[in-house]
Amino acid sequence: MDSTSSFLKQFWKDKQMVGALSPSSKSLGARMIRDLDFENARVVVELGPGTGVFTGLILEKMHPEATLLVFELNDLFYNQLKNKFDDPRVHIIHDTAEKIEEYLSQYNLGKADLVISSLPLAMFPTELRVSILQASNRSLTEYGKYVQFQYSLLAKKQIKHVFQDVKIGFTIKNFPPAFIYTCKKQQ
Ligand SMILES: C[S@@+](CC[C@H](N)C(=O)[O-])C[C@H]1O[C@@H](n2cnc3c(N)ncnc32)[C@H](O)[C@@H]1O
Repeated sequence: MDSTSSFLKQFWKDKQMVGALSPSSKSLGARMIRDLDFENARVVVELGPGTGVFTGLILEKMHPEATLLVFELNDLFYNQLKNKFDDPRVHIIHDTAEKIEEYLSQYNLGKADLVISSLPLAMFPTELRVSILQASNRSLTEYGKYVQFQYSLLAKKQIKHVFQDVKIGFTIKNFPPAFIYTCKKQQ
């Protein structure tokens, strides 16, 4: 099964968790990570990779000594990711993004320099959304960044609830077009 059909199938199984009908474009992924400091980042976290469109792009830019922790809850996507990426820098975790800190500590990684998320935050219950945003912020280093894409500006208020310094970009090179929120660690 190709990644577009497996994505659609998973969407119909659990709309709230998957949150999109098809994988994002590589252009959106490239735009999400374009301005991030991969030269100095040693710990990178990806939340909700799905079929791994962004994972591949992140690994291409990542330092050889950096580590990538990837959190994916969906069984099928998790198994596909395990088969697709055998890069020793990446650990695919079959668990919820709320547990970032637990896994950073389990892998002895300290704090994260970058958290890159494609979780469908707008479809989550408030409690889950706030819990993931707060755990992401706590897990960041002093100069760390949290990056998130969403299909609307409705998420702005929700994201600003946790991160006050937020820059918003936009790309039409995705279906649907997407807003990219780049947030500085909230001290
Ligand atoms: C909108 S899809 C994005 C997939 C991919 N990054 C892309 O842009 O094409 C969201 C993904 O988040 C995963 N997900 C949802 N809730 C999660 C959670 N609490 N922890 C980890 N992954 C989760 C879903 O299984 C799905 O793969």
